[in-house]
Amino acid sequence: MAAPATTMDKIVALCKRRGFIFQSSEIYGGIGGFWDYGPLGTELKRNIKEAWWNDMVRNHPPGPDGREFQMVGVDCSIIMNPKVWEASGHVGGFSDPMVDCKCCKGRFRADQIDETPCPKKPSKMVGQHADCDLTEPREFNLMFQTHIGALQDATSIAYLRPETAQGIFANFKNVVDSSRVKLPLGIAQIGKSFRNEINPRNYTFRSREFEQYEIEFFCHPEEAAIWYEFWRDLRHSWYTGLGLTSDLLRLRNHEGDELAHYAKACADVEYDFPFGLSELEGIANRTDFDLKAHIEHSGKDLSYFDAERKERYVPYVIEPSGGVDRSVLAFITEAYTYDESRASKEFMNFHPRLAPIKAAVFPLVAKDGMPEIAQPIYEEIRRQYPCQYDAKQAIGKRYARMDEAGTPFCFTIDGQTKEDGTVTVRNRDDASQDRIDKSRCLEYLRDQLHI
Ligand code: GAP
Repeated sequence: MAAPATTMDKIVALCKRRGFIFQSSEIYGGIGGFWDYGPLGTELKRNIKEAWWNDMVRNHPPGPDGREFQMVGVDCSIIMNPKVWEASGHVGGFSDPMVDCKCCKGRFRADQIDETPCPKKPSKMVGQHADCDLTEPREFNLMFQTHIGALQDATSIAYLRPETAQGIFANFKNVVDSSRVKLPLGIAQIGKSFRNEINPRNYTFRSREFEQYEIEFFCHPEEAAIWYEFWRDLRHSWYTGLGLTSDLLRLRNHEGDELAHYAKACADVEYDFPFGLSELEGIANRTDFDLKAHIEHSGKDLSYFDAERKERYVPYVIEPSGGVDRSVLAFITEAYTYDESRASKEFMNFHPRLAPIKAAVFPLVAKDGMPEIAQPIYEEIRRQYPCQYDAKQAIGKRYARMDEAGTPFCFTIDGQTKEDGTVTVRNRDDASQDRIDKSRCLEYLRDQLHI
């Protein structure tokens, strides 16, 4: 019998049951568009961010044709001088069209009413129920406003950043002047961004508070096309390398009429979630648009003197811009596997680098000298890998819990261990069991995980 289709309901239920993702402020009824990560989700998200930082910044591959380039990081403030957002165009143009319904008092994105169920009659879409009474669309700026200092007037308005990118542009000169770097140069940042989405939806996919990982890659204008292709392909293969290997992952090049006015080329890495094909990351050749905008608004010279070319120019920028929370959701969706034959019925086959827990150590029973053998094995493993020890419940239930957490290997100390010194090692992916000498658990794990 074919496995039942993966649905968002199943994923949401598992995420809550096992502590991957919780609704923010749940005990007070939640708050739309905000989410919390539980113990397993926190480890998973950290692993994704660490993999990104390691693979893109610290240990990045060589560029096209083996070209060298440098990557460094910044960690910028969430609230910046509001002039940044005037220069970037966010104050003037970062908006979505919004309509209100005078009947149900709901607020909707005008361009999404055909896919949004009417709150009064969810079998119909907004605008299609006889009582729907929609206003004309008007633009709604997505930036969250706040005030700085004690006075709350027009002069104290500030914004929570809607993207991490502008912190990088605003610091381009600081980084170049302080860090003995030269172009081609990528500046990376991971951090929270905020957008007051009119309709947050599809679980964590469209949230009001989310994390981004962004790179602004500065290069000579003549080399931008080649670097764009490099980053587009590298970012796509990064996802496949971490386990998004199914044909649910796509790379889609934008057509000319889809491109933003400042962009020369753009592609999206998309994932086919149960709610449809949706963007995980965009890779764009943004030309010199952003730096020139900041030169104009700040009056500062942000051009770069290229000592090798003996030329001064405003660099072009390639921007791979991804959402960490969307990646978490894609990795969870891809890992979710239904298996009728096992006790948990469902398990998470995370890539070993991403698995929140890498191994578990179980004494079959909490007596007969088994915990005394299990404890030192656990102590040895946990110094190198996130590992759990569990001596309670039937062994089948303990395996089931580890299956749902996506733990690749479990080591069980049983009656035979005392006779011949071997332990059972159970593999998450096929539930197969093997026996290895108890002294080899850590070594076995290292060989199997390749991390
Ligand atoms: N600096 C360019 C930029 O911010 P974007 O396409 O608006 O581009 C980049 O955002 C990425 O940030 C998206 O591909 C997505 O992964 C993530 N993202 C954007 N809005 C989001 C939201 N409301 N909730 C979760 N992730 C979001």
